[in-house]
Amino acid sequence: MKIVLKNGTVVSEDQPFVGDVLIDNHKIAKIGVGIDVPGAEEIDCTGKFILPGVIDAHVHFRSPGFEHEEDWQTGSRAAVMGGVTTVFDMPNTNPPTNTLKALEEKRALAQAKSLVNFGLFFGGNVEEVKKAQGIVGVKVYMGQTTAHDVDEGSIERLLGDLFNATDRVIAVHAEDELMIRKRMEIYRKETKPEIHSLIRNDAVALKAAKTAVHLAKKYSGRLHVCHLSTKKEVELMAKYPDENITCEVAPHHLFFTVAEYAKQGNFVKVNPPLRSQNDLEALWDALRNDLIDIVATDHAPHLKKDKKKGYWLAPAGIPGVEFVLPLMLDSVNDGRLTLKDVVRILCERPARIYGIQDKGLLAEGYDADITVVDMDEEREVGNVVSKCGWTPYAGMKLKGWPVMTFVRGNLVMEDGKIVSGRRGLEVLGTSKYSVPR
Ligand code: NCD
Ligand code: ZN
Ligand code: ZN
Ligand code: ZN
Repeated sequence: MKIVLKNGTVVSEDQPFVGDVLIDNHKIAKIGVGIDVPGAEEIDCTGKFILPGVIDAHVHFRSPGFEHEEDWQTGSRAAVMGGVTTVFDMPNTNPPTNTLKALEEKRALAQAKSLVNFGLFFGGNVEEVKKAQGIVGVKVYMGQTTAHDVDEGSIERLLGDLFNATDRVIAVHAEDELMIRKRMEIYRKETKPEIHSLIRNDAVALKAAKTAVHLAKKYSGRLHVCHLSTKKEVELMAKYPDENITCEVAPHHLFFTVAEYAKQGNFVKVNPPLRSQNDLEALWDALRNDLIDIVATDHAPHLKKDKKKGYWLAPAGIPGVEFVLPLMLDSVNDGRLTLKDVVRILCERPARIYGIQDKGLLAEGYDADITVVDMDEEREVGNVVSKCGWTPYAGMKLKGWPVMTFVRGNLVMEDGKIVSGRRGLEVLGTSKYSVPR
């Protein structure tokens, strides 16, 4: 089955140019101008932009165990609607993905239902990590978060042991457990959502990030710091222009500040919490200047009825996989980013960080994971496909939307409709890529 995407603006490593992309089965066979292949299906992309498929390197698709919030079918449908072709799923499921058995169980669920390619994070101890095959990385929660408790005092040893034991990426949720516990006591009698940002203040994030970076240097480990939210963390990371130390930011920290609690209450309760305008600006600057490597959504769906429970009972987490690309494309139309930035941040760099072969770029021989976008389409965020049924971005007018999503050469989403049920494939992390800065 051959498909030619005709006359779109091809955006990848080189200068963008108007041309064609030939898809042969699940690979990109040729990129150029005036490609004509007898018998191939032609899709006119005039006026549209052809990008590599988006890789969301941080999602919680909740299965097994929390299928009332999301599962591999609903999560992956949301993904393709948003132009996402590969996701990496986190281990805080039930059972947690911390044994070989649990890993195999999740693998089977994803393989049976996921419309997108998927990589699996592992959350086990050193012995289990040594046994785990094919994972994209190891996730370490340095502080308690949704569906994951942390024992005091064991984190430094665990991180050190892991850096020694594996060459896979160690991705950390960097918030200091001891500080969180102490600061929760201070605000115990209060109930306003705003206290979330006071309990888990920027010192809480900085302390854990410093510990993680220090240990990564000490053991020459491969560290990725998840969801940076503060200017202080940005300044810390800027001191380590080291290809073995990478980091990400989540869209909610780029688009919301503490002011949002007044409008959305605990719906925007998330770990790490929302911050100041000053922090938000620092995150944007760092993203533009390539000090933050990637945007990953930390797609963390929770039901509305749970989010309405009041501060202490409402679960932390914000969904995002569906709207991260439109949010970034709108930022291109605003002049805050270029399309090449978007391709670096959402496609190329995540593939390189985790060593995902043949993905992240439009190049001959690479997998035909492709997202076609219309930069002129203007739409209000409304319809939500994720099982949680809500988004904090509802009502935002965004300009720039995906109109076609190809997963391994197969057209899965077209004009906001899912047009195929074919499954994605698992992707494996490797240590082959180094991260160019
Ligand atoms: C995440 C979740 O709900 O799984 N919640 C969150 O607030 N980010 C867990 C996490 O990534 O910390
Ligand atoms: Zn986290
Ligand atoms: Zn997360
Ligand atoms: Zn929940």
